[in-house]
Amino acid sequence: MLRPRLDPASEIPLYRQLRDYLRGAILAGQIGGGGRLPTMRDLSEALGLHRSTVAAAYELLEQEGLVRTQVGKGSFVVKSFAGAGGRLAWDQLLGPLVGETPPAGPSPRDVISFASSRPAEDLFPMAELRATVDEVIGGRDVTSILQIGPPAGFPPLRLYLIEEARSQGMLREDEDLLITSGCQQALDLLERVLIRGGEHTVALEDPVYPGVRNLFLRSGARLLGVPVGEQGVEVEALARALSAARPRLVVLTPNFQNPTGTTIPLEARRAILKQVRKAGAVLVENDIYGALRYRGSPVKSFQQLDASGHVVRLRSFSKMAFPGLRVGWVSGPAPLIARMAEAKQLADLHSDQLSQAVLLRFVESGRLEEHLHRMLRAGLERLEAVEQAAAKHLPRGTKVTRTDGGMNLWVRLPEPLDAAGILPKAQRRGVSYLPGKYFWVDRREPGALRLSFAGLKTEEIERGVRILGDVCREEMREPRSDRVQLEPAVV
Ligand SMILES: Cc1ncc(COP(=O)(O)O)c(C=O)c1O
Repeated sequence: MLRPRLDPASEIPLYRQLRDYLRGAILAGQIGGGGRLPTMRDLSEALGLHRSTVAAAYELLEQEGLVRTQVGKGSFVVKSFAGAGGRLAWDQLLGPLVGETPPAGPSPRDVISFASSRPAEDLFPMAELRATVDEVIGGRDVTSILQIGPPAGFPPLRLYLIEEARSQGMLREDEDLLITSGCQQALDLLERVLIRGGEHTVALEDPVYPGVRNLFLRSGARLLGVPVGEQGVEVEALARALSAARPRLVVLTPNFQNPTGTTIPLEARRAILKQVRKAGAVLVENDIYGALRYRGSPVKSFQQLDASGHVVRLRSFSKMAFPGLRVGWVSGPAPLIARMAEAKQLADLHSDQLSQAVLLRFVESGRLEEHLHRMLRAGLERLEAVEQAAAKHLPRGTKVTRTDGGMNLWVRLPEPLDAAGILPKAQRRGVSYLPGKYFWVDRREPGALRLSFAGLKTEEIERGVRILGDVCREEMREPRSDRVQLEPAVV
């Protein structure tokens, strides 16, 4: 018998509380594979909830891949197939997958893909990289670089990054720095050392980068989506979330947020810091895109503004140089960094030292700076191209966020367009993107999609957005009955 304890006074909406409860029951095996969930009508009557609240909870479970709904039959927990012929039943052992993940891997060559937030390969400075690798391999230290090293990172790179942070007014005496395999690993280590599933709440931007959402979803933490507006996360909504739900972590992307491209202004940063301190939470400043500012002036980081040790800052070479080298870093209060270094040692001993040494040489030789100049010039051209193409080709009523850097724009198509529904049509015409469903935490916007523009040439951007506009207009002209039925958004 399902007996969720739901709190109507909570900041977490009822459908999310119900979803969390049902997810727990499924993962704990209380409702087995193939088991049928109560009908929406029965459950809404039993719990005194509106039917749409139960429907929204079921839909989230379906998006996570835990439940399949069959029209006219009901909603079923996904089946785990028992192993046939004495084979190990891997599906049963592994359990269902949690969280919807965007398709991985490169798109076919003939597709104009706005789907990945990655630097452009045509801008990779290959001659400079070859020279850098030769210098490192030919250097006196190469044998020690190829040995096992310390978990905190390749010492010369670590020292370089510490000095750089100090020269920018960050990293006080009681703080430290750890090199990680990108920001993704830093987030994973934070989850490992700070979050106990079922006990803690994590506040995330909504919409958010799926790699963050799925990581914390898998941990069993309760997720709280805080809406992102035109100027990054909404300060008032975050204040309410902090006082009502007491999250342990607040994860924010201060500059050129993925997927919306928005930046949190200085005054909002100060206000957020005040709130975070008052609530005793940890603020994770995921500044992966900050170096990619194409216009306007930089805004002080949370870590520069904070003197109270509430901020952990993540950086990475992924977006400015070569994401495949997997080198990032995290800085913050020394006791936390020491715990993260311990957890990292258990995970992978340390990040690859050759990559770290190559990137250090790439920085010290001045090649990174030259490369960044080229990236910023190309980034501005590409940003202006996508803005102009969106204004020219997307249907009237489309809303596009404004950004001054990074790799992404968030597009909201007018009703009744459904970004996921029209994607196959766009793909058949040679254009791809990621619809909003991959990014939302609580707030569903069927018309939303992310355009990642940084990896495409200006002429591809113009052609791709034109095709997307054509697909939208054709879809709007089609008779209503042919269109996908849209669910009302739950806000
Ligand atoms: C917001 C955000 N965080 C983290 C990551 C992962 O970055 P890294 O390659 O440094 O692990 C990405 C990659 O796209 C991202 O957009």
